[in-house]
Amino acid sequence: MAVLITGGAGYIGSHMVFELLDRGEEIAVIDNLSTGVWWVLPPEANLVEGDVGDDSLLDKVMTSRTFDAVIHFAGSIVVPDSVADPLGYYLNNTVKSRTLMAAAVRNGIPNFIFSSTAAVYGEPKTMPVTEEAAAQPVSPYGTSKLMTEWMLRDSAKAHGLRYAALRYFNVAGADERGRTGQSTPRATHLIKVACQTLLGQRRQMEIFGRDYDTPDGTCIRDYIHVSDLIGAHFDALQYLRQGGESGVFNCGYGRGYSVLQVIKAVEKAGAKKLAVIDAPRRAGDPPVIVAEAERARSVLGWRPTRDNLDEIVSSALRWEEKLLRHNAKG
Ligand code: UFG
Repeated sequence: MAVLITGGAGYIGSHMVFELLDRGEEIAVIDNLSTGVWWVLPPEANLVEGDVGDDSLLDKVMTSRTFDAVIHFAGSIVVPDSVADPLGYYLNNTVKSRTLMAAAVRNGIPNFIFSSTAAVYGEPKTMPVTEEAAAQPVSPYGTSKLMTEWMLRDSAKAHGLRYAALRYFNVAGADERGRTGQSTPRATHLIKVACQTLLGQRRQMEIFGRDYDTPDGTCIRDYIHVSDLIGAHFDALQYLRQGGESGVFNCGYGRGYSVLQVIKAVEKAGAKKLAVIDAPRRAGDPPVIVAEAERARSVLGWRPTRDNLDEIVSSALRWEEKLLRHNAKG
């Protein structure tokens, strides 16, 4: 049985590709290469360049071999962009997910794993945040993902589709073997931005707000190593294959680091001071977001092994250096 990975040329999706190939699984990838990079993928990834909103392409791919699962990473992920272009985000993340889900149902693919996000919670009242907390997104990005969760829930009831929606917290780091990492040129994520600053690709970086009600005044996030996140996907795949019940699962470690702590970790990894300036708060940033991820451990059997900020940061930095060398070669 094969696994279909959408967005498999993207940051997280490409790590999934390597994980499944390492485990001897057969896979195919659909990616429109709008932000993904084809050159990180080996030929066994069976990359089909195309869009998950393309019904006839989906039918063609889904009948090309026997799939028992879809892992759906393709989508847009920049929160401020979603505020500027909500309809674009609802098209890309919600409408196209519906098309993909309908194709999975039509072609008899029983299991569906979905990249959801902590953004579905908005600004939760209690921390750490459990899956039971009210889902009240504050951005079209969060809403676009939550609507997809709802479609999965209803399709599970009506059509017997089984799903796991994984709510990612702050994903960072890169493949230990240096095969892939965060390659998006316009990335806005803190660890990527700090690594780019360290390597001189940015003159300086900004700290968005130092006046939050946190111990050092900067925002706190639950940074999870991308390889542990991929572990959760693999566990979810096995769980669904064994007939596990559908559900939503937080993916984080249950502890947080501040922006200043992350910057210090990057400075330590690069043995160099970063050029940092203070900037106003960024709209929509909650002061603290930390996961309660007991459900993933107890239900999926998830056992993360890389809960270490220094390790996360140094793998991200190694990848950024590799990317720089790659881009310099043209
Ligand atoms: N930050 C800076 N300077 C930067 C970049 C980020 O100070 O140059 C700060 C942000 O203000 C925030 C923290 O670093 O306080 C983390 O910011 P990121 O952009 O790395 O990540 P977010 O927490 O904003 O976003 C993440 C995911 C989103 C998801 C969101 C849900 O990347 O996809 O969590 O809470 F929607």
